[in-house]
Amino acid sequence: MAVDLSGRDFLKLLDFTPEEIRYLLELSAELKRKKLAREPHRYLEGRNVALIFEKTSTRTRCSFEVAAADLGMHAVYLDPSGSQIGKKESIADTARVLSEMFDGIEYRGFGQDRVETLAEYASVPVWNGLTNEFHPTQMLADVLTMQEVFGDVRGRKLTFMGDAGNNVGNSLMVVCAKLGIDFAACGPAEQMPSADLVEQCRAIASENGSTVTITEDVDEGVAGASAVYTDIWVSMGEPAELWAKRIELLSPYQVTAEVMSKAAPDAIFMHCLPSFHDRNTAIGEQVYEKFGLPELEVTNEVFEGPRSRVFQEAGNRMHTIKAVMYATLK
Ligand code: CP
Ligand code: NVA
Repeated sequence: MAVDLSGRDFLKLLDFTPEEIRYLLELSAELKRKKLAREPHRYLEGRNVALIFEKTSTRTRCSFEVAAADLGMHAVYLDPSGSQIGKKESIADTARVLSEMFDGIEYRGFGQDRVETLAEYASVPVWNGLTNEFHPTQMLADVLTMQEVFGDVRGRKLTFMGDAGNNVGNSLMVVCAKLGIDFAACGPAEQMPSADLVEQCRAIASENGSTVTITEDVDEGVAGASAVYTDIWVSMGEPAELWAKRIELLSPYQVTAEVMSKAAPDAIFMHCLPSFHDRNTAIGEQVYEKFGLPELEVTNEVFEGPRSRVFQEAGNRMHTIKAVMYATLK
């Protein structure tokens, strides 16, 4: 049966079958081809979408806005301070108000329960643009990038280094399990995905012919990896006081040239971005002044090196978010 996602929410990849995820990836590739060929694809002319951002963003916001415009839609951006949400109006009320005006709602913010509540009360599709627990649109861009580099990704291995229990680490474990990609979370025991999610993903992975490895050992973690992935050590919404503890815990998992040399010979480096790979950011400089580290989760050498696919990955955010909006609104 053909995949039909019209009217569906996009809250986390646990809600989607492997066939549905593969369909979104195929649609993304097709929409990317059209964009690069400058073929018009204003399939949703005249529709309107609301973009709620309770946390800041560059890639996700720009992806939703550009994708909406390419599809012929108008997007309204609600910034972290400029709306009533959470202060004067509940998520449930906001959902019902926005459903009267918009055809779809994106939400970036705090607990996954907030986006789930928004979806429960909204009568239009709701898309998760990042919560504390999951970052599902990022996953489509990541797998599309791997497909562009490697072709079929089944049987490949992706290793996440560092803060593996964060939204990106959790989500990578889910998408890899769904698509038959071996996944390794490589970091300290304190920063791993929850035991429940690991168990759930191991069961999904075994149905799809892949494995989930949880390890504190860098050699074991990256051995045979086609993709070495990392993310910042303190995520949005976490207090700055955590930097000292995280640096202590996560420094052994910094992605260096030596770490990359332990992965597969054709391994690529991936990162959702933004990244602290040098001192050219306010936070990067503050951390340097306090702790003396000029680069954090990845060295500048790896970030800027030939194996790095981070900007291709960032560009793929737009094509994949366009696919999610089109598939759920058409
Ligand atoms: N990767 C990502 O979500 O980036 P932004 O925070 O800039 O949206
Ligand atoms: N883990 C990061 C991802 C940013 C795209 C954060 O939540 O800040």
